[in-house]
This record gives sequence, C-alpha cells and structure tokens, in this order.
Amino acid sequence: MNLVHQKKELQSLLNERRKQSESIGLVPTMGALHEGHLSLIHTAIAQCDQVVISIFVNPTQFDNDADLQKYPRTLEDDIKLLENKFDNLIIFAPENHEIYGDQAKSAHFEFGKIANKMEGASRAGHFDGVGTILEILFKTVAPDKAYFGEKDYQQLLIVKKLVEILNLPIDIVGCPISRQENGLARSSRNTRLTPGQQEKASFIFKCLIKAREKFDSLPPVSLIEEIKQDFENNPDFKLDYFEIVNQENLEPISNIVNGQKYRAFVAAEIGGVRLIDNMALN
Ligand code: PAJ
Repeated sequence: MNLVHQKKELQSLLNERRKQSESIGLVPTMGALHEGHLSLIHTAIAQCDQVVISIFVNPTQFDNDADLQKYPRTLEDDIKLLENKFDNLIIFAPENHEIYGDQAKSAHFEFGKIANKMEGASRAGHFDGVGTILEILFKTVAPDKAYFGEKDYQQLLIVKKLVEILNLPIDIVGCPISRQENGLARSSRNTRLTPGQQEKASFIFKCLIKAREKFDSLPPVSLIEEIKQDFENNPDFKLDYFEIVNQENLEPISNIVNGQKYRAFVAAEIGGVRLIDNMALN
C-alpha cells in the first residue's frame, strides 16, 4: 500500500504501472471509511491490477458550511483500516490546495433533468461540486474503471453522464448498497448518530421494504402517500422527500409500465443528521 498526497507523485506511480500494461481502478471517497467503501475497494481490486482510493472531503459539493465543518475527518483511522489489507492499493489523500489552488470553485455542468430532482433540488450546486472534483480526479488518475455505490444512486447516474459529457473512456461501475444488520445503509454520517438513533434510523429501511412489498398491489400515488404518512407519524424523523421514480431517468412514476424499472428514494433527518437511501422495487 502507498500513501501519496501530491498529484505528480501519484501520476508517476501510475505511469510505472501503465508501462506494465496494468489496468487502473479508482474509488473516490470523502473518507471516514466504513464497510460500504471497503466493498467498493474489494470489487475494484478483483477487477483491476492497481486501485487508487482517493480520500478528500470536497468543499465544492457542500451547500451548507456547517455540514462541511461537521463532516467527519478520520484520515489516520482510514489509513489503519486499509493498512495490510490490500496489495496494489494507493491512497491518494490530497490537501485542499493541491486540488483547488487558492480558491475552491465549482464548474457548471449540463447534466439535464436528472440533476434537478431529489438531492439536486435539496442541495443547491451539489452535483456541480461532485462533477468538479470528479473531473479533476478522473483527469489526474485516468482510470480504466471507476467505482460508485448505489447508496448514492442519483450520483451514480450523474457520474455516468459526466464521463459522457467529458468524453472520457472510463467504465463507471455501480456497486450494491452495504447495510448494517438492522438494515440502515452504511454512511460516514452514521458516526454522528447515537447508538439509539442508529437503531431508530432502521425505520428508513423498513419503509423501503414496505414500499417494495406493496409496489404491486397499491397504486404508486397511494403508496407514496402511505409512506409519507408513516414518516409524519414518526416523531424522530423529518422527511425531506420520498419518491418513486423510473430508475433510468428519475422521472416520477404515474402508472407502472411493463418492462420499466422503478426505485424508491428517501432523504430524512434524524437528530440533525440527514440520511439518504434507496431501493429497487421491481
Ligand atoms: P462518500 O460519501 O465518501 O462515498 C464514496 C463512495 O462510496 C460513493 O460512491 C458512495 O456511493 C459509496 N458508498 C457510501 N456508502 C455506501 C454503502 N453503504 N454501500 C455502498 N456504497 C457506498 O460519494 C461521495 O463520497 C462523494 O460525493 C464523492 C463521489 C467522493 C465525490 O466527492
């Protein structure tokens, strides 16, 4: 395992590997690593000769300064977690200045309609910030494949669109959601929840399961209303959105069309921590 902080150093390591015709995989993260991130690394290691995990809390994707300040930063623990576990792994942990110079500024991308819904609607400029950091990482690493979790399903669609817009020859690989035993999707933000809140937060998973179970028997509008009411009745949660959409284009469902795939998406706050999750319904 190698730990590098500079782009130049990373690129010279990777150039050596490329000379040996090795394939390169990239797993972009913001650190505070957990099993979900590790599952992406495992998939990448299985498919690529050399894997880079980037650890960088990207300021341009936060619409809220308090949220950025509160984001967990645990680089030493992250390194310990990865140490001695993987051969052929490079950790790229740059400082802000290495990525953005004197001013962290977001570029603007024409992602189309998929960027204006859900996370895009709730967090102004979020996907432009994600696109900005990923363009820099993709151009620095020039990976053959890059790995993203379905936990952030909308982000996964945005990243596919990004490589299309930038015309980059990178295969974007989506990986399944890793969950705690109680169903709660693993997230770096979970560390901000008390054990009691983590237990209560499994409510999100239960609602998604309920949506999946009732998807065939209830009209989508009634199902959405029922789940929203469940959140309304739960004093621990403040619901941001619950939606059932076509998983290719994120258009809201009006009626079920044969052959189309649908997914439920939820964002909700518990104890001041905003959690997101989603589940395939058919
Ligand atoms: P971060 O939240 O650290 O997530 C890094 C990657 O891990 C993302 O692709 C995310 O979808 C995936 N991931 C997180 N929790 C997961 C889980 N429970 N199961 C499966 N995959 C999971 O997403 C970001 O960082 C940033 O937006 C980033 C892409 C790094 C750009 O800054």
